[in-house]
Amino acid sequence: MFPLPQLDASSEEPIYRQLHDFIKSRILSGDLAAGQRIPPTRELAGLLGVNRATIASAYEMLEAEGLIRGHVGRGSFVAGPSAAHGIPWDQRFAEAAPEPRAVPAADAPISFATARPAEDLFPIEQFRQSCEEVIRGADAPSILQLGSPYGYAPLRHWLLEQGRTHSTVRDTDDLLITNGCQQALDLLQRLLTQPGDTVLIEDPIYPGLRNVFTRGDVRAVGVPVEAGGIEVDALARRIEREKPRLLVVTPSFQNPTGATLSRPNRAALLKLARDSGLVVVENDIYGELRYEGEDLPSLKQLDESGDVIQIKSFSKLAFPGLRVGWVTGPRAVIARLAECKQVSDLHSDQLSQAVLLRFAESGRLAAHRRRMIETGAQRLQAVIAACQRYLPAGTRFTRPQGGMNLWVRLPEPLDASDLLPKAQAAGVSYLPGRYFAVSRTEPGSLRLSFAGLPPDRIDAGLAALGRVFHEELQGALAARSAGLAPAIV
Ligand SMILES: Cc1ncc(COP(=O)(O)O)c(C=O)c1O
Repeated sequence: MFPLPQLDASSEEPIYRQLHDFIKSRILSGDLAAGQRIPPTRELAGLLGVNRATIASAYEMLEAEGLIRGHVGRGSFVAGPSAAHGIPWDQRFAEAAPEPRAVPAADAPISFATARPAEDLFPIEQFRQSCEEVIRGADAPSILQLGSPYGYAPLRHWLLEQGRTHSTVRDTDDLLITNGCQQALDLLQRLLTQPGDTVLIEDPIYPGLRNVFTRGDVRAVGVPVEAGGIEVDALARRIEREKPRLLVVTPSFQNPTGATLSRPNRAALLKLARDSGLVVVENDIYGELRYEGEDLPSLKQLDESGDVIQIKSFSKLAFPGLRVGWVTGPRAVIARLAECKQVSDLHSDQLSQAVLLRFAESGRLAAHRRRMIETGAQRLQAVIAACQRYLPAGTRFTRPQGGMNLWVRLPEPLDASDLLPKAQAAGVSYLPGRYFAVSRTEPGSLRLSFAGLPPDRIDAGLAALGRVFHEELQGALAARSAGLAPAIV
């Protein structure tokens, strides 16, 4: 007997996808055995009261995944292990680990969805000059040869020197170059956590970080972030209750909220960590992108214990495609991290590192940074002004002084996920808050990444979003006053 699914016509998930997921889960759980016949499209369409093409789309996806096989004239059957590809890959992956939660690509003409520097601000000519100077230089052959897991030595020394000047590198520290902050997080998770450990991360948080600290048997517990950064009182309670091993925190212009931790709260956080033996990883990826207000010392600068590990990257300032970041921390940590790095990929691409070094030493990076700060400041002002002007009354949003993101909370009963298709139809996209959630769900929240858009596009995008939100809110309020269930819940 073929089990029939409960299909939900009001769901955001299309019917063919619901049917596909249902049959797939039955096959993977073994409820539908290899060789079992599945109903022809016409029959199942009749039983479920849906269009035959809908059933055919679901079957096509299942067949493409090697889960079912069709025989002309005989209908379709659940595939056995030796079907399509030999190895039942889906089954393997289902047994091994949950699917990583990918973030959808930006797909609207005005996209507030990705936290990236604007490509049209890349100084391509200066970059080309830097590449040529490296390739023509005497070091070119050694740059193209295999190198050290610690990174390209001249860049490493330059970064160490910069770090000493800014008091982020002390005598007991060392530095390792990674493929961006993402790889630094990955290596630190492997090195510093054991199965069963608890790690504290901010909630909401950049999904790339959450995904690293929720794999294996590691448990990530969220600590709320509000406009003033990670909540230190809540942090104290989590430390007491959860006995965590590690805290990963982004004190400046946090992603997704744009929030920054005050100086007294930085000191309080460090004291809590010191008193409880908690290892602190400071993600300072946005630290240099301050457009307004007074500079604050990083945790690494304030740290008296010498144990804070700091990760940084060129990605938010220049050329994220080059994938160059670095970790600064106690020598013992960096030595072990270099071993992990070697196991993972031997070392990072030296050509990228050498070109970035040339770009920096020639003064081009400093000039580019000035331009990024200038344009970032204009974009920040534009996004705050446009939020104030266009978003419905009752909307709350953070007012960062730097970085690339701000966090919006729409008034009830607006749901940012539900409204995204309408926003996209109006030519604008953003990421709903649920992509960043650890354990708190706030349906009205969303992230606006503003740094990639010039002020006029920011204004046009928010004007369009404002219209979508106002219209929906008016509809919901009218339904409410007429005694109907609101359209959005
Ligand atoms: C908070 C945070 N950490 C890490 C990363 C990864 O950065 P990278 O390009 O340096 O790997 C990002 C990128 O968006 C980020 O926002």
